Amino acid sequence: MIFQGAHILSINQFEKENVKRLFDVADQMQPYALRRRVTRVLEGAILGNMFFEASTRTRVSFGSAFNLLGGEVRETAGFESSALVKGESLQDTARVLSGFSDVICMRHPAEGSVADFASASRVPVMNGGDGANEHPTQALLDLYTIRKEMAVNDRDIDGLRLAMVGDLRFGRTVHSLCKLLSLYENIEVVLVSPKELTLPYELVDDMRSAGVVVKVSEDLTQSITDVDIVYSTRIQEERFGSKQEADLYRGRFRLNQAIYTEFCQPNTVIMHPLPRDSRADANELSNDLDNNPNLAIFRQADNGVLVRMALFALVLDVAHCVDEYSHDVRWYNARPK
Ligand code: NCD
Repeated sequence: MIFQGAHILSINQFEKENVKRLFDVADQMQPYALRRRVTRVLEGAILGNMFFEASTRTRVSFGSAFNLLGGEVRETAGFESSALVKGESLQDTARVLSGFSDVICMRHPAEGSVADFASASRVPVMNGGDGANEHPTQALLDLYTIRKEMAVNDRDIDGLRLAMVGDLRFGRTVHSLCKLLSLYENIEVVLVSPKELTLPYELVDDMRSAGVVVKVSEDLTQSITDVDIVYSTRIQEERFGSKQEADLYRGRFRLNQAIYTEFCQPNTVIMHPLPRDSRADANELSNDLDNNPNLAIFRQADNGVLVRMALFALVLDVAHCVDEYSHDVRWYNARPK
């Protein structure tokens, strides 16, 4: 893939060298994300942030990343307040809105919708989640986090052992992450889900064809004894026919500190794309893990800004001149150095 001007719709577009380039640029974004320096490299540029499904972190993270590069953000949230309720097609919406923006980020409940929108857009479009299909930028920030967490113990992405836990059928972050991991060597994945919510078999087949060792399990404690990463996910309630149906699976795989201490390795990193469902009947990652230094979920969210800044910088072709248009900040910065 060539980043300049590209739509970012699926992990299928990425090769290993693209991921390396992206992560190198993300590393360079640290002083800006930490508010040590300010860059105006995207001054005058406009991001159209279009979220037709619930979102806190992805929407604000895309917007913050664009602001941190000096650009401006316009938001559309929800169907009710958009012309889609008047019967406008996604392609017509794209034809219009791409005239107002330099890049568009979009989330929509239908699989393939963001690609459909992108096909009529005059500017690059980034997929912020299309139904149960994919969430490529989340997978990239997940892998960036994995790389950083593993580096602490001199480990690489190659040779990684992961447990993916929860709703693997509808969890689009898992779908994209499985594709991304398939680019690396000697990866072992154990897929832990109720049998009704297993990973779609095409994805399992593709991983195996790429050389990933895949195991399937319904037993959480047995599956987390020998892994580097536990990647927990939420039951994707909004993709089920009814709340009652989702309730059948909610709370099936709960990780808390006692289970972690008894079954995990001392260095096992805990990840989750968030939001974690903290309601009593779900509680997939208990709050008693919050002081566990290996709980990486909030570092993951922080890393999302770096990775999205890097994506904007590469797609809009300014990665080479971010520093040129920068200066130190003038205000008091409460963050530790
Ligand atoms: C995820 C999503 O929207 O797919 N959230 C996110 O973007 N971090 C996961 C989820 O909603 O469970």
